[in-house]
Amino acid sequence: MAFGGKGVARVDGKVFFVTDAVPGDVVDVEIVEDSGRYADARIAAFKTPSTLRGPSPCRFSDQCGGCQWLGIPYENQLAWKRQFVETALGRIGRFHGEVLVPVSGSGATIEYRNRIFLRGVFASDGSVSFGYFRRGSRDLIPVDRCAIARPAINDVLGRLGSARFHRPVNLRASTPYRMEIQEIPQQGGDAGAQVVITVYPPDPACRDLDAFVAGLRGLPGVFWAGFIKDLKDAPLVVFDEQGGIKYHTRPGQFQQVNVAHNRLVRSLVHEIVEGYKPARVLDLFCGSGNLSLGLCRDGRHVEGIEFSEAAIATARENVRINKITGALYLAGSSEKHLWKCAKKGEQFDLVIADPPREGMFKDLIPLQKIGARVIVYVSCDPATLARDVGALIRGGYALKSVRAFDFFPNTWHIETVVVLERDGLKADVP
Ligand SMILES: C[S@@+](CC[C@H](N)C(=O)[O-])C[C@H]1O[C@@H](n2cnc3c(N)ncnc32)[C@H](O)[C@@H]1O
Repeated sequence: MAFGGKGVARVDGKVFFVTDAVPGDVVDVEIVEDSGRYADARIAAFKTPSTLRGPSPCRFSDQCGGCQWLGIPYENQLAWKRQFVETALGRIGRFHGEVLVPVSGSGATIEYRNRIFLRGVFASDGSVSFGYFRRGSRDLIPVDRCAIARPAINDVLGRLGSARFHRPVNLRASTPYRMEIQEIPQQGGDAGAQVVITVYPPDPACRDLDAFVAGLRGLPGVFWAGFIKDLKDAPLVVFDEQGGIKYHTRPGQFQQVNVAHNRLVRSLVHEIVEGYKPARVLDLFCGSGNLSLGLCRDGRHVEGIEFSEAAIATARENVRINKITGALYLAGSSEKHLWKCAKKGEQFDLVIADPPREGMFKDLIPLQKIGARVIVYVSCDPATLARDVGALIRGGYALKSVRAFDFFPNTWHIETVVVLERDGLKADVP
C-alpha cells in the first residue's frame, strides 16, 4: 500500500501505483500516467477482489469518491497509516534513525465526521439531489446518507431528499452548487444536536438560491442556514467544550472534522507544552485558537497567527467569552509574522505549527532567530510533514516523538503530531 491509498503492483520490474487497490486485489488496470519506470493507474475491472474486502456499511462506496477503505478491516487500515508516516519520514524526510509511530485508532469508524461538503442540483419538480462526485469524475452521485457523517447530519440529509423547494428561475437545472453541513451540539432550546448549513452558490452575486436557503432554515434539525458571503450574520456556535473552555465557531469556518479525536490531539499538545513550561508560545496557523486557547495560564503569553480574519475574530471572541488572559490572536501570514518577530528580537520558547496540507514554509532562519527551542508540529499530510521535519532536523532540531491519530477512518488520511527539540533540551515528552 503506497501513500495516497494506492496499491503497489509490479509487472516485469515496472511499478504501478493503482488508485484504490488494496493488497490481494487481482485487477485489470488502465494507465493514467506513464512515467517510464513507474506508472499511475486506476482499476478498470476486478478479476478477484482481495479477501480483505468485506461488506461495506455504505450503499454508495463503490461509486463515491469519498472513502476508499469502507469494508476493509480497521486493523489493516491502521497498519497502512502507520507505514505511511514511518516510510515518509525515512524516504522524504531522510530521517535515518528508527521511528516507531503509535497510531491511535478512532473509537467510531463510522458516523464520526461532524462536517461534510456536498453538491446540490435542482430537478425541474423542485426536488434537489445532494451527493458527492463519482470517483475520478465530476458526475454527481446522489446520496441520502453518508456512512461516516454524524447522525444529526444524516437526519437532515434524509429530510432534504423528500423536501420540495421553489426552483430558481435563473439557475440552470444542471448547475451543481456546494453546500456544507456541520453538526453542532445542543445550543439551548431544542434537545439534541443540530446542524448549520453553509451554501456556496455557483457565482457569489447569484441570489437565485435565496428561497432555497429560506426553506432550509425551516427544516427540523437546522439551527441556521445561509450563504458563505453572508457569514457576518451567522451565529457564533459552540462546537466543543474541554477543560472548562467553550470552543466557538461560525458556519463556514475551518474546524477539525473529528471532534473526539481533536480532543485527544488538543490534550496531547497541552501535555507536551506543559512539560516544557514555556513562558511564551507562538501558535502558527492557529485558526480560531483550537490548540492554544487552553494554554493561556500562569501568566504565559500565547500568540496566535492565522490567515483568515474571520477565524481570528472568532478566536478573539473565544478569548472574551472564556475570560482568558495572556492571549493575542492576529490575522496575517505565519511566515511574515515570524520574520517580523525575528526582526523585532522577540523570543518564543515553543512554537506550535498546524499548517494546511501544503505544509510549512521552507525558511527556517526566523524560527531559529526567535529562539524556538521546541516545535510541536501537527500535520494532516505525512509527505509534507516528512519534508519539513527533514529540513528542521538538518537545521539543528532533534526528533523527540511522533504520534499519529486516525481522524479519518475508512480513508487513507492520517493526522500526526511531531515534537522537535533543539539538542540538549530535556523534558518529559509524552
Ligand atoms: C489545518 S488548519 C489548523 C487550524 C487550527 N490550528 C485548528 O486546529 O483548528 C490550518 C490553518 O492555517 C491557515 N493558513 C493557511 N496558510 C496560512 C499562512 N500562510 N499563514 C497563516 N495561516 C495560514 C488556514 O486558514 C487554516 O485555518
